Amino acid sequence: METLYENIFRRKSTRNFNMDTLDEASLLRVQEILNKAPDLFEGLKVNYHIIKDGKDFSEKVTGIIGAYTKVNAPHYIVISCIEHSGFRQATGYSLAHVILAMNDLGIATCITYPGVDKSVIAKYADLHENQVPILFIAFGNPENPLELYPKPDYFKRRSLNDIIIQGPVKRKYKYILEAVRLAPSSFNTQPWRFSVDGNRIHILRVKLGFIKSKFFSSLNKIDMGIALAYIIIAIKSKGMKFKLIKDSTPHVDMEYMITVEIRE
Ligand SMILES: Cc1cc2nc3c(=O)[nH]c(=O)nc-3n(C[C@H](O)[C@H](O)[C@H](O)COP(=O)(O)O)c2cc1C
Repeated sequence: METLYENIFRRKSTRNFNMDTLDEASLLRVQEILNKAPDLFEGLKVNYHIIKDGKDFSEKVTGIIGAYTKVNAPHYIVISCIEHSGFRQATGYSLAHVILAMNDLGIATCITYPGVDKSVIAKYADLHENQVPILFIAFGNPENPLELYPKPDYFKRRSLNDIIIQGPVKRKYKYILEAVRLAPSSFNTQPWRFSVDGNRIHILRVKLGFIKSKFFSSLNKIDMGIALAYIIIAIKSKGMKFKLIKDSTPHVDMEYMITVEIRE
C-alpha cells in the first residue's frame, strides 16, 4: 500500500502514446495487477480485459464525447461490471488501485470513456451477458518518456479549503486529504467534498443541476469510488486501521456517500 500511496504523487494521465507495443513480460505484469485488483463490495466484481491490439480497437471503439479527447494507445483495458447498486463507485475504487500499480511499473495510462455501445466492444472483449462496459484504460509507453510523471506544478486541483466543507482536520490526518485532493476525475471535475469530525471523514458528492447531472452524474459516481480508494490507500500506507460506516450528515447540495472512521 505504501507503493500505491507514493504513486499518488507520481501519476498523471498520458494522452500521447508511443504506438509500439509493450513486451510480453510487461503485459503479463499488467495482467497480474488486474488479477489482484481489489473490489469494494463482496460479490460485485469489477472485470478487466486487456486488448493487445490497440490500433484497430481505437479506430472502432473509442469515440469522442463532446470535446473529450480521444486517446490513441497501443493497448487498452476494457473495464466492465454488472449494473448492480453501487457499481460505478465499485469501478472507480478498483481502477484507482490498477492505475497506481501500473504507474509504479512505469506504464503510462489514461482512463477514457467508451464512445460506442456494448455490441461493438463485445467484439473485442469477452463480456458476459449482464456485464456492461464502463470505461477503458489506454496504456503503453508515453511518446516522450519525460511525460510519464507529473512536473511539480502539474496538478490543477481544488485547494484543501475548497474540498473540506467542515473541519477542523487534525494535523495527523491532513496527509489523507492531501492525497485524495490529487485523485483523477472525469473532466477533472473533482466532485468530492469532505466533512471531517474528529476521526471520521464523511465523503460527499456535489449534487449537479438537472442538465449537467444527466451526463456527469454517472461519471462522478466513478470519481467518488476513486476518491474513496485514495483515502484508503493513504490510511493503509501508514498502517492505520479504519472501518467504513454509514453515518449520514446532511449537507445542502451534497449527496452523502460513506464515512471512513479511523481507529485512534
Ligand atoms: C471516470 C473518468 C473518465 C475519464 N475519461 C476521459 C476521456 O474520455 N478522455 C480523456 O482524455 N481523459 C479522460 N479522463 C482523464 C481525466 O481528464 C483526468 O484524470 C483529469 O483531467 C485529471 O488529470 P490527471 O489524470 O492527469 O491527474 C477520465 C478520468 C476519469 C476519472
